[in-house]
Amino acid sequence: MVSLVDRWGRKLENLRVSVTSECNYRCIYCHREGLLNRGYGLSAEEYRVIAIVASSLGISEFKLTGGEPLARRDIVDIVKAFSETKPRDLSMTTNGYWLEFYVEKLAEAGLMRINVSMPSLNREKYRYVTGLDALDKVVSSLRKAQEVGLNPITINVVILNGINDNEYKNFIDFVSTHGYKLRFIELEPISIPKHIFDKLYKPIDDIVKYLESISIRKYFRGLHHRPVYVLNTGNEVEIVKWTHNTVFCMYCNRIRLTADGILTPCIMATKGVDLKPFLRPKPNLDEIKKAFVKVNEMRLPFNIALKK
Ligand code: 5AD
Ligand code: SF4
Repeated sequence: MVSLVDRWGRKLENLRVSVTSECNYRCIYCHREGLLNRGYGLSAEEYRVIAIVASSLGISEFKLTGGEPLARRDIVDIVKAFSETKPRDLSMTTNGYWLEFYVEKLAEAGLMRINVSMPSLNREKYRYVTGLDALDKVVSSLRKAQEVGLNPITINVVILNGINDNEYKNFIDFVSTHGYKLRFIELEPISIPKHIFDKLYKPIDDIVKYLESISIRKYFRGLHHRPVYVLNTGNEVEIVKWTHNTVFCMYCNRIRLTADGILTPCIMATKGVDLKPFLRPKPNLDEIKKAFVKVNEMRLPFNIALKK
C-alpha cells in the first residue's frame, strides 16, 4: 500500500471534506472550516473519484463536514461514495438539526459515527449561540442515532467565555447518562472578528484540571496527540487545545478539501490546489493523485507558519 509522508515525517491518513459551506445555523463562534472554505460542494460522483484516489494513497479516514453537511440533499450518495472505498473510519460533524430524518439512511449508506456540535444544554443559551431554538430536537435525534448504531456519538463543545464555561459538569453528566463521548474544544481564532474572539475566548485549563482529578485513566489519540480522559462511568472526554501545545501540529495526519474543491494542507492555509480542473469535464486520476502529493508537500506545522 502506498502512503504519503510529509517533510516533517507526518503520515497522511485522514481527509476532512467540507461538502458545503452553507449552514442553517449562525453560531457566533464559527470558524467556517477555514479561510478558503467557500462554495456549494462537489457532486457525489466527483467525491467518488476523489475517495478512490485518496484511498489509493493510503488515506483511510474520512470526515464529512460543512457548513452543515446535512444541508446537502444528496448527502446519502456522498456518504456512499466514501464508504465504497472501505475506509477504516467514516464520520460526520453535524449540528444535528436534520439528523432525525437522515439517521437510518446514513447508517445504511456506511456512515460509521457522528460528532454533534452542542454549544449549550440550556435551551435559551443554545438559541442565543446558534440562532435556532433546536436543543430539544437535537437531543432527541441523538438517541435515534445511537439506536441505529452511529456510535460512538461524540458531543463537540466549544468553550465560550461567560456563556457555557460553567456548563462542563452538566455536559459530563449528560454524556454519562446517555453513553456518548464528549469533546471540549478551545476556541480557535479563525474567521472570527478579533473583538468577538477576545470576548469569547477562554483557556480550557480549568476543565483539564478537573478532568485530571476525576478521571481513572488518560490516553492520547493519534490525531493531534489529543488527551482523552476516561471517567469511572467508562465515558471518554477528549480535549482539543491548540494554545501552548507544541505537539498538536506535530501529530496532525490530515489534509482538507474545501467546499469549492480546493485541496488544502491545513485549516489555517491560505493556499491549496484546485481539483476542479482535474474533475471537469472528465476526471483525470493521475492529475488528482499529483495534487494530493503536492498538497502533502505543502503541509506545515502552523506553529511554524505563524512565526513566519
Ligand atoms: N473554534 C473551535 N472550534 C470551532 N468549531 C466551529 N468554530 C470553531 C472555532 N472558532 C467547531 C464546531 C464543530 C467543529 C467542526 O468545529 O463546533 O464541532
Ligand atoms: Fe458553524 Fe457548525 Fe454552527 Fe453551522 S453549526 S454555524 S458550521 S459551528
